[in-house]
Amino acid sequence: MSAWAEQLPQQLERIHSTTNHGDSHRWQQALEQLPQLQATAVDFGADAVTVSGETLSQQQQNSLTELLKEFHPWRKGPFLLHGVSIDAEWRSDLKWQRITGAITSVEDRTVLDVGCGNGYYGWRMLGEGAKLVVGVDPTQLFLMQFQAIEHFVGNEWPHFMLPMGVEDLPATLLSFDTVFSMGVFYHRRSPIDHLLELKNTLRPGGELVLETLVIKGNKGEVLLPPGRYAKMRNVWFIPSPDTLAVWLRRAGFENVRVADISATTVQEQRSTDWMQFESLRDYLSPDDASMTIEGHPAPVRAVFIATKR
Ligand SMILES: C[S@@+](CC[C@H](N)C(=O)[O-])C[C@H]1O[C@@H](n2cnc3c(N)ncnc32)[C@H](O)[C@@H]1O
Repeated sequence: MSAWAEQLPQQLERIHSTTNHGDSHRWQQALEQLPQLQATAVDFGADAVTVSGETLSQQQQNSLTELLKEFHPWRKGPFLLHGVSIDAEWRSDLKWQRITGAITSVEDRTVLDVGCGNGYYGWRMLGEGAKLVVGVDPTQLFLMQFQAIEHFVGNEWPHFMLPMGVEDLPATLLSFDTVFSMGVFYHRRSPIDHLLELKNTLRPGGELVLETLVIKGNKGEVLLPPGRYAKMRNVWFIPSPDTLAVWLRRAGFENVRVADISATTVQEQRSTDWMQFESLRDYLSPDDASMTIEGHPAPVRAVFIATKR
């Protein structure tokens, strides 16, 4: 990765100088106001990524909650920081439970997490002994959330988040032992190119963990929503599992298998105090929860595992 490491500082400089979200200043201020608390233990193995050490008074808890809510909406979690519980929209621990037993252990492996959100899974990967986790995600708010969590967890961990898209990675990294792409594939307009991008980050024999929406159907079937899907404008290809298996093989992966297929439930994705906008319940048909509000099959997600040839 040394060639990448050399160009990364300039690339990040370019990204910083061209990214300016209207809320950046407010987020930056909230980051700077986060209290310095002594962490005596971190637990990346628990469902909630947990930092403990100090017992906060009710007033301290309230003011920490208020500061962390500056980073609303919290999509991925949960986190528990010195007794303050961030109950995010997604119970990301449930997805992690479905995945972690099925994949080659990330222990001692270098891991790339494409579309890492606020980095929740990266901490869980460290909990499983990953040697290095690099997350990439272009959404500035999620970088801020990552930095807020890192403030409490400490920055001595081999977990980094780069504020860029998968398309900004060098074309041929060929170095990671495992690459995760979770919840990203259906947002890509060119699905085979996404598989090739992912393949090019892996060393030969490296493992891809691909989690995405699927439909029930035979080989060759794929849903390309004519408009929105579950109110999302940017959903492109939702293949059947057999179709996706063919795409993976055509893209140069072998040993392709499906580790899990699960319908997303309103227990796993819901509005909370930490994500007060609409959530899954509002995206489903009020008359038939097996359909989205637009009349498409409701979200079902599959986890594919494959090896780079
Ligand atoms: C549905 S979320 C999935 C987050 C997380 N991986 C998970 O499974 O819970 C999709 C993520 O992809 C990120 N994303 C959007 N465009 C991207 C791109 N071009 N490259 C990498 N990530 C991207 C979004 O910011 C968002 O965090």
